[in-house]
Amino acid sequence: MSQSCDVIVIGAGAAGLMCAASAGYRGRSVLVLDNAKKAGRKILISGGGRCNFTNNDLSTSAFICSNPHFVKSALSRYTAWNFIDLVERHGVAYHEREHGQLFCDDSAKDIVDMLHTECDWAGVKIQLRTEILSIEKADDGRYHLQTSQGALNCESLVVATGGLSMPKLGATPYGYKVAEQFGLKVNATKAGLVPFTLQQHDKDKYADLSGVSLPVRISTESGVSFKEALLFTHRGLSGPSVLQVSSYWNPGEAVSINLLPDTEITETLAAMTESSPNQALKTALARVLPKRLVEIFYADELLPECTLKQLQHKDLNDISTLLHNWQVKPNGTEGYRTAEVTLGGVDTNELSSKTMEAKKAPGLYFIGEVMDVSGWLGGYNFQWAWSSGWSCGQFV
Ligand code: FDA
Repeated sequence: MSQSCDVIVIGAGAAGLMCAASAGYRGRSVLVLDNAKKAGRKILISGGGRCNFTNNDLSTSAFICSNPHFVKSALSRYTAWNFIDLVERHGVAYHEREHGQLFCDDSAKDIVDMLHTECDWAGVKIQLRTEILSIEKADDGRYHLQTSQGALNCESLVVATGGLSMPKLGATPYGYKVAEQFGLKVNATKAGLVPFTLQQHDKDKYADLSGVSLPVRISTESGVSFKEALLFTHRGLSGPSVLQVSSYWNPGEAVSINLLPDTEITETLAAMTESSPNQALKTALARVLPKRLVEIFYADELLPECTLKQLQHKDLNDISTLLHNWQVKPNGTEGYRTAEVTLGGVDTNELSSKTMEAKKAPGLYFIGEVMDVSGWLGGYNFQWAWSSGWSCGQFV
């Protein structure tokens, strides 16, 4: 005997729960299935446990998608303000950090609890620990699912299984397989918002700097740049600037790092020369940069052993190039193991930007990170989950 409902959502993550509540409030009978033991596991660990749930300065240019206009419809139908309003109605305390990022004051669990409450109020049923064994579309247009908990069928099937990042949290390629089963194109995926790894010799060289953070501007060869903190790690480079730029970086490319993005080193050195002409250049640079990094540059003979007053015009040019345009060639990234998002996914040209329905398979929908949409660091990925989920929920 197959159990019937109007809507089945596969994936009890950010997008799936939002979509389920949105459809439930329209009077649809909604069942959410997930193979995990808990709903919203990524939300719980997000934002260092405080969930950066959206961004006050949301802009569509902060989304990466092979069809850049695709995101506009959902993001304008369900905006950051709509989600902030929801959070406030549930009494979740939050605060703003730099770049408009909004975080919970207490815990990301407040967001998961809020979504559970919304689903309860909307009459949504959530069934965890359920494996989907097969999906077929019958002649009557309904989707029939065989699951580890029995047979189910529905009029609208929503795939909200997320991307490949963090397999230890249950990420699977299942959503891509469903898309392919129904003839939809899936664009190549790769890890995004992910730390860089370094070649062994660079890794050894910078290992002592592990834990050191400094404000920088990092640019890719294609000219995309971000000004935020860089963090040296024992594996390579991380920090917000690196995570951001990683989504635009291609293997084999170098990145250019401006180690002093707010000052011009030649001007700083000119001022220092006036006040302390006999100071060693090394000492002077250690006042504006991490001392260990300056020592590494010296060990590599990239900086002259001289006093400030001995600096020649050419020296100043070389110093400026090194510090404002430090070239680093990452070996790769840490991959899906630590990536916050997956770039690529179900091709948005296959979907309606208003409803998220597959053009080739009426009644089948894709929302959230499983689609070829990802955002910058800063709450953009959750906002995409809320916006695409809510919009879809209005039509399923
Ligand atoms: P999500 O991954 O949330 O949910 C997918 C669901 O599908 C999961 O519950 C999973 O168990 C289920 N599933 C998968 N395969 C299945 C299968 N075969 N059968 C049944 N169920 C299946 N973003 C942001 O905006 N602000 C932030 O602070 C952070 N922080 C952050 C930290 C870390 C460590 C990570 C890894 C990611 C973030 N992100 C983030 C990104 C954000 O978590 C992500 O973009 C959203 O969770 C995507 O929501 P989805 O609902 O699409 O997928």
